[in-house]
Order: sequence, then C-alpha cells, then structure tokens
Amino acid sequence: MGALYDRVARLRDRLVMAPAFHRIVTSLPFGKTIAASQAEATFDVVAGFVYAQTLAALVSLGVLERLAGGPRSTENLAAELDLTPRAVEVMMRAAHAKGLVDRRTGGWGLGMKGAAILGQGGIAEMVAHHHHFYADLADPVALMRGGKPTELAAYWTYTGQSDVPASDDGAATGPESAMPAADAAPYSRLMAASQAFVADAVLHNRPFRRARHLVDLGGGAGAFGIAALKCHKNLTLTVADRPDVVPLAEAALTDAGLDHRADAQAIDFFEDGLAFRADLVSLVRVLHDHDDAAVAVLLGALAHGSPDAALVVIEPMADLARPTGMDAYFPWYFMAMGQGRLRTYDELCALLKAAGYTDIRPLKSKNPVLVRALVARCKPD
Ligand SMILES: C[S@@+](CC[C@H](N)C(=O)[O-])C[C@H]1O[C@@H](n2cnc3c(N)ncnc32)[C@H](O)[C@@H]1O
Repeated sequence: MGALYDRVARLRDRLVMAPAFHRIVTSLPFGKTIAASQAEATFDVVAGFVYAQTLAALVSLGVLERLAGGPRSTENLAAELDLTPRAVEVMMRAAHAKGLVDRRTGGWGLGMKGAAILGQGGIAEMVAHHHHFYADLADPVALMRGGKPTELAAYWTYTGQSDVPASDDGAATGPESAMPAADAAPYSRLMAASQAFVADAVLHNRPFRRARHLVDLGGGAGAFGIAALKCHKNLTLTVADRPDVVPLAEAALTDAGLDHRADAQAIDFFEDGLAFRADLVSLVRVLHDHDDAAVAVLLGALAHGSPDAALVVIEPMADLARPTGMDAYFPWYFMAMGQGRLRTYDELCALLKAAGYTDIRPLKSKNPVLVRALVARCKPD
C-alpha cells in the first residue's frame, strides 16, 4: 500500500460513483457481465442477514436432515413442520437462491452448501447459537458504543472473570457489562462439535508427532486432545480447564476409551501457576478470547512455569492485506463477547516474544482460512 495505490483507489472511487461510468461499462463487451456480478456482490452484502436467517430457520426446523433422507415436496415439509406451504416456499426459495437446497422432481433436495453444512460437524451448532450474536448485532452502533449487557457475554460464562484489567481496544462492552450465567456446558458442547476441522487442519505437524505428553490448556470438553491421542498413538494428554468444564472432559475421555492415556485438571490459567510436566502445551482457540493484558499474564506464567515445553497456538488469525469473511465476523463477535481480539500472526508473535518466547515459527494448516497455527519455544529447538 503506497501513495500510488491511494491515488489509483481515489480515482476508482470517483469513477464507480459516477452514473455515467455505469452507462459506459454496460455498453462495453463483457461490461454487462462485470456490472451484473458487481451488482450481485453488493446485493449480497446488503441482504446478508436474510441469508443467515434463512439458514437459521433451516437449522432450527431440521430441514437439512430431512432432505438428507431424500427429496421432499413443499406440501410434505409444510405438514411435517406445521407451517403453511407458502411459508415453506419462502424459506426454500431463499435457501435455493443461496445453494443450500436444490430443486428436485416434485420437491426439494440438499444443495451443495446444505450437504457441506451437514457433513462438516459444528456448522449447524454454530448457526444454532447465532441467535445470541444476532440479538447483540440488532443495533450495531449501540453495540459499538458499549455499556449494555450482551447475550454473547452471558453465553461464554468466563467473560469478565479475569482480574486482569482490560488494556486494549478489543471491545466496546466492558466485562462488567456481562451477565454471567452458570452453565459452561452449552459453549463446551459447541466447541467440541466444531473441533474436528481444527484438529484435522493441524495435527499432522511435527511438534505433535514428536511430543510425548501434551497439555491442552483451555482444552474444553477434550475434543482436540482426543483427536490428538487418536492421531498420535504414543502421546499422553492432560486437558486443563475451568473446574466446571473438567467433568465434561473426563466424561468425554472415558466415552472415547482413552482415560488410560489422559487426565483432566481443574485450573484457572490466570491465577494458577502453569508449571506442567509436558513437552508440548497447546492453546486452541483460547488466546483470541482475551484482551492483550490478560494474554500477557497467561503467556508470561506459561513461559515462566513451563520453559522447556514447546507451545502451539491454534486459532483463526487476521489477514489485514487479504481479509476474508472471518476478518469481518470475528472482530464483531469479540466485541459482542465484551473481550478478546482476532490477532494477526505478527501480533501473536509480539505477545509471545514479550512473554519470553524466542523461537517462533508458523505451522502448516490444511485450512488456513478457518484456523492457523504457530509453535513457540523459550529456547531454540
Ligand atoms: C473458546 S473455548 C476453546 C475450547 C477448546 N480449546 C476448543 O478449541 O474447542 C475456550 C476455553 O477456555 C476455557 N477457559 C476460559 N477461561 C479460563 C481460565 N481462566 N482458566 C482455564 N480455562 C479457561 C474455557 O472454559 C473454554 O473451554
């Protein structure tokens, strides 16, 4: 990005805003196609909330599962869902327009996106919890001004629980505005359901292949740790999380028949010493939940307590140069949560270095849009 780019971008802005420009473009060969695709892309941004709510209706009514069993007519769906055929038609036409369902002889079948959502664990669960996010975003400017309790802060029951004062600009709503509910099970279930794509993307990396004992810090109900144990047969595991989450991890380890290779430990990673007998510690989708000052406390305690363990950080990371939908989604999400930030790789490196990590390298992710990874050591490998 330099002065030349800025000048060209200004010129483009003026051109695109001018009605005469549209007339000229649409009169050129290929111009109509370009103008139409730009118009559709702009409409998608304008109407995005309708698409998301169409998907919310499909998920809430279990429509995708019904279509997975075979094509269904509008009338058949209407009778089963206790809706009018007209209401079902509105939902299904919208879903068809976005590739969620497909027209079949005499009815509806799964579309490419609908099949992918059913096939990839976690997306439907993510969609189902979005009514909290949607409520918080109903007045986006009010959310930006902050000061009001939010549903997402209440959903993630650990928000506002760290004693570390908020230090950065991560969120407009302060933790004190949260309404902590008591139940960690809903977010733990959601995290476990959406874990498969994370684990699949990163577990092939060398630090996991070499490790003997892994501590998955903030490991939730143990889904990542269980995937690591299944992938690496010589590995043993400790899942460390808040006391109210540990029973969920213990039950999952037992259900998976892996409790002989694993245990679960109750911990507060802001308050307790983080001295682990492990050669690898993982923080999976943990750091982005917390403001910089809190992350500095956590990483400092880890570097001090477990200087010989390699640390793997796995979470979505911001791409300022080539932003994707994630770069739009997560910053709003963390603002609604009242804490946390989607960080760039460089921002994470800066926090790690400040905490005492010297040797930091990116790891390969099979799905870098959804999740990226790095390994950090206090001493060279
Ligand atoms: C976004 S979830 C990620 C869970 C899991 N690592 C995953 O990716 O599925 C964050 C986890 O951090 C845990 N956590 C939050 N604050 C904590 C604290 N102070 N001490 C220990 N764990 C904490 C939560 O209970 C939760 O399981």
